[in-house]
Amino acid sequence: MSIHGIAVRIEKLNKSFGSNHVLKDIDLDIAPGETFSIIGPSGTGKSILLRHIIRLETPDSGQIYFNDQPVFDNGRPLPQTFRSSMVFQSSALFNSLTVAENVGLWLREHRICPEARIRELITEKLAIVGLEGTEGLNTSELSGGMRKRVAIARSLAMEPDLVLYDEPTAELDPVTTDELAETIRSLRKKTGNTTIIVTHDLNFALYLSDRIAMMHRGEIIEIGVPDQIRNSANPIVQRFIRTTTKGIQGG
Ligand SMILES: Nc1ncnc2c1ncn2[C@@H]1O[C@H](COP(=O)(O)OP(=O)(O)O)[C@@H](O)[C@H]1O
Ligand SMILES: [Mg+2]
Repeated sequence: MSIHGIAVRIEKLNKSFGSNHVLKDIDLDIAPGETFSIIGPSGTGKSILLRHIIRLETPDSGQIYFNDQPVFDNGRPLPQTFRSSMVFQSSALFNSLTVAENVGLWLREHRICPEARIRELITEKLAIVGLEGTEGLNTSELSGGMRKRVAIARSLAMEPDLVLYDEPTAELDPVTTDELAETIRSLRKKTGNTTIIVTHDLNFALYLSDRIAMMHRGEIIEIGVPDQIRNSANPIVQRFIRTTTKGIQGG
């Protein structure tokens, strides 16, 4: 399979809502094909940062580059030659449609290839997420974990250069969370996509990320490979690690 994957560089990104300074001088450099997670407590600006990357928000100042091409011009999103696709927390599937119809939705809407090719692509993307043979199932009959994988297959149907996830484990039980982590890891090998994951689930991020950035109150306070995050000397990072693993370690 062809390697897709773009570099994402964020420079001095700032965003306020009224007096609420939500993103403060965010700098990030994400390599092509990297699986990069942004962790941190809720309300800290993670989703807003992701929404800038998919151009649903525009910055007050600063810039994002995809492969060195600027994404915004004077606060307006520029037309893009790169494709990004987002897997939303709720999966956002259409329950009245089958699995195959959900995965093929974007392809059919944009009429970018003949129907026979669309069917092939649907089968290919379902296989990538381990759902071969489920084309005819009703989406409403699926478990939460399967729904999530259908949503991933649907985002892959666009052949994206960049795949983004906002809180992918939010509605999943521990077993399904493990399955999802494996799915995202194997996707990396199969597609070479650059992947950005926003999550408050530290263990999930530690398990599958090449690198992790921790956000706190609108700032990136730590960045590194999983071991560097685990061993961070930053007291805020250590407190976050203790809090989010309390259930396992008994405090
Ligand atoms: N559309 C909006 N208008 C005003 N404030 C917003 C808007 N979206 C988010 N915020 C504020 O931005 C901050 C960060 O939100 P968010 O990025 O959703 O946090 P996180 O994803 O880390 O939980 C919060 O204080 C939130 O209230
Ligand atoms: Mg969020």
